[in-house]
Amino acid sequence: MAQAPDYSDRPWLDPEAEPFIRVQSVSKHFGDFTAVDSVDLEIYKGELFCLLGGSGCGKSTLLRMLAGFETPSSGRIEIDGQNMTDVPPYERPVNMMFQSYALFPHMTVEGNVAYGLRRDGVARSEIEQRVADMLELVELIQFRKRKPHQLSGGQRQRVALARALVKQPKVLLLDEPLGALDKRLRDQTQYELMNIQDRLGVTFVVVTHDQEEAMTLSTRIAVMDAGRFMQIGTPTEIYEFPNSRLVATFIGNANMFEGRVTENGPDHLIVVSKRPDCEFYIDHGVSIAEGTRVWIALRPEKVRISKQPPGNSSANQIRGMVHDIGYLGGMSTYRVDVEGERLVEITSQNQIRPRDGNPPIDWDEEVYLSWEASNPVVLTK
Ligand SMILES: Nc1ncnc2c1ncn2[C@@H]1O[C@H](COP(=O)(O)OP(=O)(O)OP(=O)(O)O)[C@@H](O)[C@H]1O
Ligand SMILES: [Mg+2]
Repeated sequence: MAQAPDYSDRPWLDPEAEPFIRVQSVSKHFGDFTAVDSVDLEIYKGELFCLLGGSGCGKSTLLRMLAGFETPSSGRIEIDGQNMTDVPPYERPVNMMFQSYALFPHMTVEGNVAYGLRRDGVARSEIEQRVADMLELVELIQFRKRKPHQLSGGQRQRVALARALVKQPKVLLLDEPLGALDKRLRDQTQYELMNIQDRLGVTFVVVTHDQEEAMTLSTRIAVMDAGRFMQIGTPTEIYEFPNSRLVATFIGNANMFEGRVTENGPDHLIVVSKRPDCEFYIDHGVSIAEGTRVWIALRPEKVRISKQPPGNSSANQIRGMVHDIGYLGGMSTYRVDVEGERLVEITSQNQIRPRDGNPPIDWDEEVYLSWEASNPVVLTK
């Protein structure tokens, strides 16, 4: 008997699952400027969903509409099965952590976290318990009597998170939650955020313009540009199968080649690019009509670099000259001139010390670049 598929950690694949947040054709105009342009979105319970895009693409505006601080010009937002159109922010099952989270400077950590509960008239003993639990969770219990200025940036950020979570929202909306932190603290806090989310099972919607952050944190990512969604998918889907040049270059690095389909076989596709002169043999079953103009995206880590010619097929390889080598410890980045002008980027892991028969590659050396037939991504826009 066939087993029922398990969608528990991928509810978006489950045809039976009901989305927790449903955004239907939502637009937001400011005068004649369109900040959010007819977007559709479904987010499931327990997801850590990222809205990712460059500055001004409409991320905060969309988040503010979910929170109720902005009213959609058209369209409909549903949360937990309820139409939010006439529901004010404080009655929504959401809480928002703002882009520049403002802690009350004169209050202690404890006071900051308790503030919302006091305002709601929660009983004193319950406030004490909930605040203590929350400070335990974000590992700030020993700092509970400090004022914000006596904390590091990362600790302040965790106070803001505790303050937002203590009210037990079903959805937490976070606008650039790690934006104020330096790189090291950011990395560390990312994992803390994931742990906390995992333990509480709250649905997180996180806005960020940092693609690495989105890749690390998310169950799924919506890539936004100019008020629209370019692609929605898991980090792997977006990285391995971008649907456009914009997404391919926005998420990670990609070498881009323009060419034409010259053969559309049942199990392969051949694309020929003129500059550089190269034939791409692709075996992953995409089917695109002969003659179509396409772009090939090749991720730097998918390209092999060698001094010897790689095998005997002339497809899926080009020759070039090493222009630049960046040694990053665990890996190296090579920039290779192809046909005297264009640079192709390659990253390769430095797993073993170079040995006999595999001499190190040096500046200005002639090299071969090659890749597997399954690696090129074919894009039509
Ligand atoms: N109240 C407003 N009136 C007019 N235009 C606005 C208003 N709020 C936002 N905008 C415009 O809408 C666009 C989207 O703004 P939004 O704040 O959503 O961007 P964002 O994606 O969050 O950018 P960032 O990464 O810089 O925070 C911007 O061009 C912005 O100038
Ligand atoms: Mg913003």
